[in-house]
Amino acid sequence: MVQIAPSILSANFAKLADEIRCVEGAGASMIHLDIMDGHFVPNITIGPPVVASIRKTTSLPLDVHLMIEDPDAYIHSFAVAGANWISVHLETCKHLSRTLQLIKSHAVKAGVVLNPATPLGLLEEVLKWVDHVLIMSVNPGFGGQEFIPFTLDKIERLRGIIQHKGLPVKIEVDGGVGLDNICDLIRSGAEILVIGSQIFDTADPHATVRKMINLANHCLAEIQA
Ligand code: DX5
Ligand code: ZN
Repeated sequence: MVQIAPSILSANFAKLADEIRCVEGAGASMIHLDIMDGHFVPNITIGPPVVASIRKTTSLPLDVHLMIEDPDAYIHSFAVAGANWISVHLETCKHLSRTLQLIKSHAVKAGVVLNPATPLGLLEEVLKWVDHVLIMSVNPGFGGQEFIPFTLDKIERLRGIIQHKGLPVKIEVDGGVGLDNICDLIRSGAEILVIGSQIFDTADPHATVRKMINLANHCLAEIQA
């Protein structure tokens, strides 16, 4: 099954609860929350208090993507706020295995995120401890950027490594995802599709999510046939 994870970065923050209920009602699998600190990425978004408020609006898992320096200092706060999944950028972690253990000690699913230019090889020692790998298909910081095509090959190679090692690690992709590349991404091995602007910038986000789920199921069926 392919899961759609709407990123609220492109939603209307003045009516977040409505926006979240809309995509939840359409069949979204989780809500993706982009946490930016103005240091690791050139943008600032939300922190634990907003995550705690969002927690009260939905029963869907909250997929928290930390784009912040020193993530260890904030993992506890995001877990307490209600995160079900926490992903940290490999580029921000000096002691990645310790950070992953810290996330897991809170009974939260642990993920590692790689920027487009960060090589897969850096995952080698930790892959056995992660629940998911998030491949950035844009340079992080903003919604609405163009998909970087070379990341398709990276996803395919990651799938090969995961299969070779026989690990239950999920592959998530984030940035520039939409109706035009969903099938290519699924073919490459993506299992969780983070989608922001191409859901919330449409006239009818509910219908858009439905369309994306149908397309994903259709592509998957075609690939498996
Ligand atoms: C980018 C964020 C993404 C972003 C994706 O730094 O991590 O989650 O919201 O937005 P779109 O789908 O518009 O590229
Ligand atoms: Zn994200």
